[in-house]
Amino acid sequence: MKIRVQPGKRLDGEALLPGDKSISHRAAILAALAEGTSRIENFLVAGVTRSMLEAVKACGIQWSFEGTTLTMQGRGMHGFRSPHSLINCGNSATTIRFLAGVMVAAGISATLDGSESLRRRPMNRILFPLEAMGAVIHSNNGHAPLSIEPAEEPLKAIKHDLPVASAQVKSCLLLAGLGADGMTHLSEPGPSRDHTERMLRNLGVPVEQEIEVSPDGVSRYITRMKGSQTIQLPPFEMILPGDISAAAFLIVAALITPGSRLTLRKVLLNSTRTGLLDALTRMGASIRIGERQEQGGELVGDLFVAYSRLTGTEVSGTLVVRMIDEFPAFAVACAFAEGRSVVRDAQELRMKESDRIAALCAELRVLGCKAVETPDGFIIPGDGIPSGGCARAHGDHRLAMALALVGLASEYPVEVDEAELIQESFPDFVGTLQALGGELERIENA
Ligand code: S3P
Repeated sequence: MKIRVQPGKRLDGEALLPGDKSISHRAAILAALAEGTSRIENFLVAGVTRSMLEAVKACGIQWSFEGTTLTMQGRGMHGFRSPHSLINCGNSATTIRFLAGVMVAAGISATLDGSESLRRRPMNRILFPLEAMGAVIHSNNGHAPLSIEPAEEPLKAIKHDLPVASAQVKSCLLLAGLGADGMTHLSEPGPSRDHTERMLRNLGVPVEQEIEVSPDGVSRYITRMKGSQTIQLPPFEMILPGDISAAAFLIVAALITPGSRLTLRKVLLNSTRTGLLDALTRMGASIRIGERQEQGGELVGDLFVAYSRLTGTEVSGTLVVRMIDEFPAFAVACAFAEGRSVVRDAQELRMKESDRIAALCAELRVLGCKAVETPDGFIIPGDGIPSGGCARAHGDHRLAMALALVGLASEYPVEVDEAELIQESFPDFVGTLQALGGELERIENA
């Protein structure tokens, strides 16, 4: 499927976002591990979370939906059964990495696989520490498929230094560590999202977070959790905040489309996720944040965004970690800004659903923006409005949405192929923009 976007229509109105993708994944896996029935409102019903839900079902855990409310009958830490056949994690790296941790803790055997894109994602970052805990996992040279076998000895809690800040790796090891006697001690070079830690604490698991600064001024972000082979998690009820990573596309849409004014309700405002708001504010974006409230152990608030004349900026260091999923949308904001934008320290973007540095720059050039790839980021000159044209999504849902945004304010229309990928994380992206006044059209079988 393709989408075609016509420029020149201002966006106006209010939007409610789907539930946060990261928190949906965590809510699903923790509800599956809890003992009893959990109820989760505003769950993200999309491709990647379906992968997670089908996987836990294959391990014997029942769930059902009423609208976007998920009810799950958790069977406790040792209630996972070995699935009868291979589990397909689709495009979801969160699913394969979280499940690997849970299966190791549950002591079951399973084979986890996924799409071509998932098979390219690096898995040694979870395999080495899981093996240090005593797990037995065979892989295809550090890539999926992963074959997990029950460990012969009880799992050992470990101390592990992550070379790259990663909430997926951290969460995988915390989930495995839940079933290991003793202290799991993880250290990261940056502030990756901390939803797993917050949710575990809410369920009564002792998890501590702190920042350690070495004498030469280098910070490490520490997470410590006490696990036990007899740990039990209680069932829970939760309303999920709106996904700030989905909101990112609407925010940039409003900022680049002249005359636009949007209100986004109940968006997640956890500071490990709000890097894009900081970067855009520096560029001169008009983004006002309403009163912050607590919802399900997280901060949420309304965002008021208006079209703005943006200027180029630089992004590097820990800010990169705090907006790791937002670079496709951010690059589009840079393409419409006046003056040069530079992104550094972002080599991790090459490990996402696509090589986001190479793919983003190539496709922005196709649409008439002179983006330049660097080893650890990109440079966008910001010297004129993109012309438009036909772009490819490179198997990446966020690239598909970001490239479509260009068409809201380019000189000529934009077409993006592989637009069906959008249903992986924000199924109502097109409908939401249409309801706000955007002129977007789906072209089936194209
Ligand atoms: C996620 C963590 C990030 C992010 C991904 C979701 C999570 O990945 O890119 O979309 O929910 O923990 P890494 O931890 O690999 O950076």
